[in-house]
Amino acid sequence: MPENLEKPEKPDVKAERGSFPGQELSVKEAEALGYYDFMSYLGVPYYHIGGLSSTRKLAEFCRIDSSKKVLMVGCGEGFSACYLAKKTGCSAVGVDIAELSVRKAKERARKEGLEGKVEFGMGDAYALPFKAGAFDAVITEFVSQFLDRDRAFKEFERVLKPGAYAGINEMYREEEIPPKASEEIDRAEKIFAEITGLPFSLPTPEEWRRGFEGAGLKDAAVRKFRPSPGLEEIKMLVEAMGGSWKFTRYFAGLMWKMAGYTLSSRKIRLRFRRLGEGKKILLRKKPTSKYVGYVLATGKKSED
Ligand SMILES: C[S@@+](CC[C@H](N)C(=O)[O-])C[C@H]1O[C@@H](n2cnc3c(N)ncnc32)[C@H](O)[C@@H]1O
Repeated sequence: MPENLEKPEKPDVKAERGSFPGQELSVKEAEALGYYDFMSYLGVPYYHIGGLSSTRKLAEFCRIDSSKKVLMVGCGEGFSACYLAKKTGCSAVGVDIAELSVRKAKERARKEGLEGKVEFGMGDAYALPFKAGAFDAVITEFVSQFLDRDRAFKEFERVLKPGAYAGINEMYREEEIPPKASEEIDRAEKIFAEITGLPFSLPTPEEWRRGFEGAGLKDAAVRKFRPSPGLEEIKMLVEAMGGSWKFTRYFAGLMWKMAGYTLSSRKIRLRFRRLGEGKKILLRKKPTSKYVGYVLATGKKSED
């Protein structure tokens, strides 16, 4: 039987809370967290493969500037919302369904001196806790690929002001893919759905466009990009983290915690192994990764 995440098991090392420095949750508590809460607890800053350069480009496509109020749906730990507020001067509101992620995001806003400018709270993409026409832009980054597009995009449209933009930074798959590569990409979709506990799919650029149109968003523009992690991206991340010393400390802490839980828990080890398999198919394996990338897509709420 292939190993799977549901298999009952005991942690192979008895690791109580505090059994390694930097550990705030016991192994059992960490195992009980949802995938994204666990990642936020570890301190993974953000997930989208285009990194901060894609966040900035998307902000430009959505005409975000200091006069705008932006909603980030599925804000995670709040990294992009804080980053955009600092870079463009916009005010931002972030919502997510992962409780610990929202707590971490609030902590980030406080530490970065952005209270009053950036707010975070619990909120579901399908029932956003805001009145109609409240925002100048609605953004998702690696979130809409976990959502039912028809339902979620209608909700984004509802909370936008007339003439304002919805912008998404999400993965896509090409239309034409040889059957073998297509099967592998389907397998990666299943892996991500399994480890996150969320539906996960990679629409084609045309499906993303139709999603916007179906929600009544006009002038849908879908721009395709290939993931290209470069030195420039690392420099942006180091700068956003407050310089190389803070960056090094942050990542050392993240690696340390990750290693501690990975060694202590078979369940967490399996999660990371499955994550590695999925990422390899989508981002590194030559016969499959060339059919996958990310889109920066926008659609505009009608003016009338
Ligand atoms: C891949 S992470 C992306 C987080 C962040 N946007 C980033 O780029 O790092 C996906 C996020 O979407 C959130 N999410 C999933 N379904 C959601 C929903 N229905 N409503 C709000 N957030 C949701 C998850 O909790 C998670 O934080």
